[in-house]
Amino acid sequence: MLAQDTLAPNRFEHAPLAVFASSVEASRAVAGAVADLMRARQREGRALVLGLATGSTPVSFYAELVRLHREERLSFANVITFNLDEYRGLPPDHPQSYHHFMRVHLFDHVDIPAAQIHLPDGSVPNAAVDAHCRAYEEAIRAAGGIDFQILGIGRTGHIGFNEPGSARRSRTRFVTLDPLTRRDASGDFGGEENTPRYAITMGVRTILEARRIVLMAWGQHKAGIVRAALEGEITPQVTASFLQEHDQVQFVLDHAAAGALTRYRTPWLVGALEDQGLTWDERMIRRAILWLSQKRRKPILKLTDDDYNEAGLQDLLQVQGSAYDANLAGFYQMQHTITGWPGGRDPARTRPGDAPVRPLRAPSASVFPKRVLVLSPHPDDDVISMGGTLCRLVEHGHEVHVAHQVSGANAVSDESLWRALLFVRDLDLADANSAGRLQALCAAYEAGGTLPASPELARWKALVRRHEALAAAHVCGVPTGRLHFLDLPFYYGASVRRRQLGNDDVEIMRRLLAAVRPHLLFAAGDLDDPHGTHRLCLHALRDALALSANEPWFREMELWFYRGAWAEWELDEIDLAVPLSPQEVLRRRRAIFRHETQKDQALFLGDDRREFWQRTEDRSRRLADAYNALGLAEYEAIEAFKRYSPDEFLHHAPL
Ligand code: F6R
Repeated sequence: MLAQDTLAPNRFEHAPLAVFASSVEASRAVAGAVADLMRARQREGRALVLGLATGSTPVSFYAELVRLHREERLSFANVITFNLDEYRGLPPDHPQSYHHFMRVHLFDHVDIPAAQIHLPDGSVPNAAVDAHCRAYEEAIRAAGGIDFQILGIGRTGHIGFNEPGSARRSRTRFVTLDPLTRRDASGDFGGEENTPRYAITMGVRTILEARRIVLMAWGQHKAGIVRAALEGEITPQVTASFLQEHDQVQFVLDHAAAGALTRYRTPWLVGALEDQGLTWDERMIRRAILWLSQKRRKPILKLTDDDYNEAGLQDLLQVQGSAYDANLAGFYQMQHTITGWPGGRDPARTRPGDAPVRPLRAPSASVFPKRVLVLSPHPDDDVISMGGTLCRLVEHGHEVHVAHQVSGANAVSDESLWRALLFVRDLDLADANSAGRLQALCAAYEAGGTLPASPELARWKALVRRHEALAAAHVCGVPTGRLHFLDLPFYYGASVRRRQLGNDDVEIMRRLLAAVRPHLLFAAGDLDDPHGTHRLCLHALRDALALSANEPWFREMELWFYRGAWAEWELDEIDLAVPLSPQEVLRRRRAIFRHETQKDQALFLGDDRREFWQRTEDRSRRLADAYNALGLAEYEAIEAFKRYSPDEFLHHAPL
């Protein structure tokens, strides 16, 4: 196994793991291990049986195998493959079928004989499904069993499509997909209503019978479930936890997916920091004190020596001298995150005795007014995630630009467009030709409930969202001339989970940066959105900043990340906390309301069906409550940001 990369075990983790700086490096290591095994078997004249997965996780792994085949003559002639699963109802040539996925990513590019490839067939008739599943198990047995099984993990904790509740003894069978799994896949199918409900999957037992297993996971959105699978109890509620019973299993993660593990979140519980190559630096001290305050449910300044000792933080006490000193250190760090002046204060209006504007640090800190650029991946992320701060920056007199990175057309329902078309039709301004077309489109929707998909209609849907963004910007006081609709082309990639960034995306971003030359740049650091758009937008920003690193404005710039509707920063990650008044919360709500077409999203995003404004308000009120509980101050709501220096971001972007 990737022995040289395996981390020293600790008492929290119940299976070996290796953590890499990026998913690409990790995928290379796993592909290297598989390639070694393939070559060893070739030398012995034996076949190698691989169990394969699909989804976004193994894409780089397959790319590396294809590279090894092309450039290093790795042969697949002696490889037999069995895929984990297939959507029920999709024929093998369907573009979203796993048959198709495997051809596109691997089989079409290597020398594997077709007869050695096996996937469950999603299109067998209902009456034949059981026999098909039994035959699949039999074929695995006949091939000698799986030597090396590749797995991803779903956010439900599934391996294959073994959703919560799947038994340890389960075998290849017909299954119902969990709502969260369908939501995560919905981007590939143009909406949840078109996403398959059922699948055929290898069972837990089938998987556990493999001789070696590697589970790969990338990204912060997997961090929670990875922790449950690796550190939690073995339970059918998280089928990946069954892997803890296997003696040749390894979890292979990138930093983001490993981020919730005890060794990273609360390393002082694992052992002395110096034994782990860590030190009690400012961040670590703050993290430990916040953790202790929350655990003890006490404001920071009320923590005692006993609290520290009983929680295993003797080392920290030793470094800080006493609870009194440690408390003050943690308290001031948090207090210094708070400012009502996110862009700094106008020197002309600053009076002696005014509180300092602490969090700003970049060389441009004293510039006033500043050029501010807010990047919004989708047209509504700006107001959902930082609408209050946006309004403040405008009110304080800064030159605020908002750039909407993708058009968001994919999230406009046909019904929303139909209503816009009705309006245009009934205005009665079109020439006879266009009027006829509008009439036909409206009639088509009224008859069938859908509009024909076409690039032109996608453009119209983009316009619907553009107008919503214009209206929201109006509420926030951002003039229309400072809105930038970038319409990044990657967004129109055929399949949401397999989209890739191109040079044109990066060039559009580079030109925007060159035009605005921001002193303050706000970007979405929320990588938890289900379809990866935020991640790709952040990639585009990183690549564009890399091309701009020699521009004079680059080093002057302060770079802040916000989190959105899906997640909030951990308290210890926050560098800037902007308190909002009750009136500002209402104004932000009005801005979010302008994104009317997104109200329906609440019906299938998130188990609780809450709308975006509700999520935002809950999130920012919860954060204000958390500051209050730490003994800081009592605010109505808080929007929070994390700082990256531009250099740090280029080299350690959390992607
Ligand atoms: C795919 C499969 C699934 C995925 C899991 C993660 O064959 O069986 O278990 O591995 O849903 O999907 P991604 O990689 O898209 O996050």
